[in-house]
Amino acid sequence: MSKQRVLSGVQPTGNLHLGNYLGAIRNWVEGQSQYDNFFCVVDLHAITAPHNPATLASDTYTIAALYLACGIDLNHAQIFIQSHVSAHSELAWLLNCITPLNWLQDMIQFKEKAVKQGENVNTGLLDYPVLMAADILLYQADKVPVGEDQKQHLELTRDIANRFNFQFARKKPVLKLPEPLIRKEGARVMSLTDGTKKMSKSDPSEQSRINLLDTPEQIQKKIKRCKTDLVKGLVFDDPERPECHNLLTLYMLLGGKTKEVVAQECQEMGWGQFKPLLADAAVEALKPIQDKYWAVMNDRSYLESVLRQGREKAEEIADETLTQVKKAMGYSLP
Ligand code: TYM
Repeated sequence: MSKQRVLSGVQPTGNLHLGNYLGAIRNWVEGQSQYDNFFCVVDLHAITAPHNPATLASDTYTIAALYLACGIDLNHAQIFIQSHVSAHSELAWLLNCITPLNWLQDMIQFKEKAVKQGENVNTGLLDYPVLMAADILLYQADKVPVGEDQKQHLELTRDIANRFNFQFARKKPVLKLPEPLIRKEGARVMSLTDGTKKMSKSDPSEQSRINLLDTPEQIQKKIKRCKTDLVKGLVFDDPERPECHNLLTLYMLLGGKTKEVVAQECQEMGWGQFKPLLADAAVEALKPIQDKYWAVMNDRSYLESVLRQGREKAEEIADETLTQVKKAMGYSLP
């Protein structure tokens, strides 16, 4: 039996942080041998917020190199850049024309990000989830490993696929309905400055997140200064202590420990004792990723060959789906 297919992606906007790693990429790596995987750098999504043309290409390569550095294995996965496969934007257009406007206006991320863009909200921001649906549906993906914040976009993707099949392919569905793969632990890593807010690339405060490429000194400093509380004895799952829960979860995931072991180890601890332990765990977990990252970045021709091969494999599948979609919609094909 052939393996189920996985597709996922990250935007090349700013640095990858622990939320992206623990919520998404770590899970791609852990599950990769079970699936036929496609991981893209979603550079078309990156321009839905104001972007810098001078750094877009280099940021895109950085994310692709980080995929390899985090352990994506080319025996199981393809890595490619979204804008290199033109079927993504073409399918997005076709799906636009069957997606009701109010579905998009109801998206939580749209509402949150629109507030930040103020008067300059662009159509791309509203349309972001349709492009994401196109990314997923083109590959007939069975599973989409993402963080908790993407759940609503996955539901929308299923709704769009259903609507397409119902309108144009009732006898023999053309688009597969994907399932989200959201892990319980790490699916929502919180900010270091506010345990009730998600860790995010767009937070203006660098102190709010740990980036995968932060130096040991930066990591130590951020953890030393991160928000805590005045209570001694550290526990999980206390709604009154969101920072405590978040930091213990980071310690558990970065150190590869179980919840029980961490709960026991930290139950009598104060912050002064805990923070250096967390900093060490973070530095140690990120060191091999950083070493591999620099090795990949110093071999540009290798990275380019990985992306070329990824693009070829991706295009084969994406073009096939696009053809089926166009046929079902009644287009004449060249
Ligand atoms: P992006 O770049 O914003 O986030 C990439 C991944 O990181 C996860 N994530 C988090 N997980 C846990 N805690 C956090 N604080 C945290 N912040 C981010 C996100 O859930 C995501 O899995 N829309 C996608 C990009 C995308 C995509 C796709 C994903 C475009 N097309 C197709 C899957 C399939 C996004 O949020 O990117």
